[in-house]
Amino acid sequence: MRASTDPQAATADRYREFAEVEARGMSACYETWARGVADDPATAALIDRLPGPKRQPNLVFSASRFHGAPVSDYAAFAAWLAAHWAEVEATCLSHATQTNEPGRCAVLLPALAAIPGPLALIEVGASAGLCLHPDRYSYRYTAADGGVRMLHPADGPSPVLLDCATTGPLPLPDRLPEVVWRAGVDLNPLDLNDEPDVAWLDALIWPGAHRSADTAARGGGGRQGAAGRDRAR
Ligand SMILES: C[S@@+](CC[C@H](N)C(=O)[O-])C[C@H]1O[C@@H](n2cnc3c(N)ncnc32)[C@H](O)[C@@H]1O
Repeated sequence: MRASTDPQAATADRYREFAEVEARGMSACYETWARGVADDPATAALIDRLPGPKRQPNLVFSASRFHGAPVSDYAAFAAWLAAHWAEVEATCLSHATQTNEPGRCAVLLPALAAIPGPLALIEVGASAGLCLHPDRYSYRYTAADGGVRMLHPADGPSPVLLDCATTGPLPLPDRLPEVVWRAGVDLNPLDLNDEPDVAWLDALIWPGAHRSADTAARGGGGRQGAAGRDRAR
């Protein structure tokens, strides 16, 4: 198990590995914050008040963002966290990371489309259900040679465009699969009509990550997620 996800590992080690392996190249802010925690015994001691599984860097950082921590340098973040620890601690204890990444549909689509349809989908760990709608998003697959394949739902382009870079031969379908039934199962299904749930989903998006599709999927494509939610209970 990696130190960053090992609840028994020392907090400094967990945050240093998170900075170097998970955040680097993904979020300059989280890389800076995690490296800062790793070198700051006072903040690490604050985080150590949480049970081991709850010291997870992306949970502590998401809870901080949920309560308004601005994207900042480490000194400003450490001061903010010390001043708001009670709220952050309560949210870490009551919440879990539930990032819902509709972009995963672009990777799943070729396999789903290869199955003779129509399809019934069931997703275990569906979060808000955004991945239950591979037939309702638009896709742009761009090959290494620059070739582009666009795919759209049967009733026209979706407000949610999922971009996917490809390498090597890929069996891309000519059309999206037909999905006639879908259901999500989750320990804690998130509700796209519930403001705190949507705020938590937003807080789970790492600062600096290019996630316009998530926003569109929750906003313009909100009905899509709502359908998933209704069946996720
Ligand atoms: C990281 S999220 C991924 C959501 C979605 N599959 C995606 O790819 O965007 C993991 C989800 O799995 C759920 N989960 C974790 N353990 C579970 C279990 N034993 N049974 C059902 N859901 C679970 C969590 O509540 C969370 O919503």
